[in-house]
Amino acid sequence: MRRAIFPGSFDPLTNGHLDIIKRSSPLFDEIIIAVLNNPEKRPMFSVDERCEMIRNILPSAKSDGCTLTVDSFSGLTADFANACRAAAIIRGIRAIGDYEYELRMSLMNRRLQPQIETVFLTAAEEYSFVSSTLMKQVFELGGRVDGLVPPAIIAKMRDKLELG
Ligand code: PNS
Repeated sequence: MRRAIFPGSFDPLTNGHLDIIKRSSPLFDEIIIAVLNNPEKRPMFSVDERCEMIRNILPSAKSDGCTLTVDSFSGLTADFANACRAAAIIRGIRAIGDYEYELRMSLMNRRLQPQIETVFLTAAEEYSFVSSTLMKQVFELGGRVDGLVPPAIIAKMRDKLELG
């Protein structure tokens, strides 16, 4: 049983995240989308809202026989991966700018849990500039994020904006 976690803030999930999930699905029997509970970051969506949105979107992700589940966690990613008995931590690399930070995280995670490998996947070119932060900023200022964020999540972003 090859299990991996795909950790992140997912505030909110973008098509870039979905692309990484689809690409990594053939490599693992189970992937846990691990949503970080970090209230200090003042997220747009609560951790429960993020988990629910991802659960609703996942059936549309082609999973190639890989079971996709969603869970939240607090504390260290390496410890959560260990508690899940995961063999790997999946991370997406969009551009060279991501590499230095991701390299440092992977080396630290390896130090904390040496038996867990970090697996880097390169994002599709069309999503190489997409981040949750950029999507929120553009959306909040009235820009279009169609094609970059799943429609169901855009609807939730609109609700958030309208309800304040
Ligand atoms: O939303 P992101 O930036 O893609 O996710 C970053 C994340 C959640 C993977 C990273 O911040 C993280 O692992 N946070 C949990 C705390 C932790 O383990 N910190 C040490 C990392 S070496």
